[in-house]
Amino acid sequence: MTTQMDPATGVPHTPEHVGLTEQWAAHNYHPLPVVISSASGAWVRDAEGKRYLDCLAGYSALNFGHLHPRLVAAAHAQLDKLTLTSRAFYNDRLGPFARDLAALTSKDMVLPMNTGAEAVETAVKLSRRWGYEVRGVPEGRASIVVMAGNFHGRTTTVISFSTDEEARRHYSPYTPGFRVVPFGDVAALGRAVDETTVAVLLEPIQGEGGVVIPPDGFLREVRSTCDQAGILMVADEIQSGLARTGRTFACDHEDVVPDVYILGKALGGGIYPVSAVTADVDVLGVITPGSHGSTFGGNPLAAAIGREVVAMLATGEFQERARVLGEVMADGLGELYGHGLAAVRCRGAWAGIDIDPTLMSGRELCERLLTRGVLAKDTHGSTIRLAPTLVATVEDVAFMLEALRDALASAARRG
Ligand SMILES: Cc1ncc(COP(=O)(O)O)c(C=O)c1O
Repeated sequence: MTTQMDPATGVPHTPEHVGLTEQWAAHNYHPLPVVISSASGAWVRDAEGKRYLDCLAGYSALNFGHLHPRLVAAAHAQLDKLTLTSRAFYNDRLGPFARDLAALTSKDMVLPMNTGAEAVETAVKLSRRWGYEVRGVPEGRASIVVMAGNFHGRTTTVISFSTDEEARRHYSPYTPGFRVVPFGDVAALGRAVDETTVAVLLEPIQGEGGVVIPPDGFLREVRSTCDQAGILMVADEIQSGLARTGRTFACDHEDVVPDVYILGKALGGGIYPVSAVTADVDVLGVITPGSHGSTFGGNPLAAAIGREVVAMLATGEFQERARVLGEVMADGLGELYGHGLAAVRCRGAWAGIDIDPTLMSGRELCERLLTRGVLAKDTHGSTIRLAPTLVATVEDVAFMLEALRDALASAARRG
């Protein structure tokens, strides 16, 4: 890492910022040693001016790249007009956003929130209320079936049904009412569903788990299990949705339509936290005034940005880009299988790769990629998620693949 002095302060840029952050911000993350200070499209620059290709894309929050001109324009226009009203009043941005997002998801209604975890909480509350009021489950007994290896956020209830010990440790007591089954196991799912079950909640592809794709047909089996039991299928498409996999939703790959979509991340265009739950009126209609809400949910700035995101998705352009980039990624990563990569999983412009653990850790590979101008992040020790922005070019993806090949080869030589 090259280090230049700040001409004004005489202090090196990167160490100064790392030091400030480590001293003053809680250590709930362990960032790679790079300080990003500007970005455009698929690329970012660090405090010394070095360029990196962003292959994390804010965990898919940056599907449209950094500072997409259409999204920045929508945000700017709204910033000069109206930003926050609270839901105590109507605003002139929420209605059009809700209508357009409902249309994109082919649902009747939208419940806007801010972060992903809040939207998941919303879906959990919605499923329970629907279970009591529509399905007739006795009060206090509602259960929701979830998948092992899930990641749905960090709130107390959401980590209560996580299977990641690090996410749960010393945060008990946990919220009851969840049953965990192995991801992809239809028989176990069938056994877990009973008269108290109100919903099955799942990521159609587990992002944080390492882009784990269920066996073919699993989503259709979940759909039919839910239909037979008369319960809700709730798809958390916060990371998998909004064009990342080459379709608008990951569920589209199996032509499955869940009862409830949970959306977030890219819905905010990489600018602002925007999340939402969408469903038909026979489901979302159980939410009544005072029973759920958020001061910032559905605010005019969020709605203006979210509506522009929906308009950009409606053309199919970004879904197509994800398909094109995904083919290049799948080919290139496939060649590295067995040459430092123990597993490769791809769906659209989204890949999970498992590094041969005898070669190096996922963290070390990310550090090696960093020195080669590529930003990526490890998960669960040996796994790395590769998710370039959908404004990246084929040449950008080739650059990522070359950096990966070189990083693996350099570790093998050390070997
Ligand atoms: C599938 C899924 N659900 C929920 C969340 C939580 O979103 P947020 O971090 O915005 O609360 C994430 C974040 O990574 C996610 O991947």
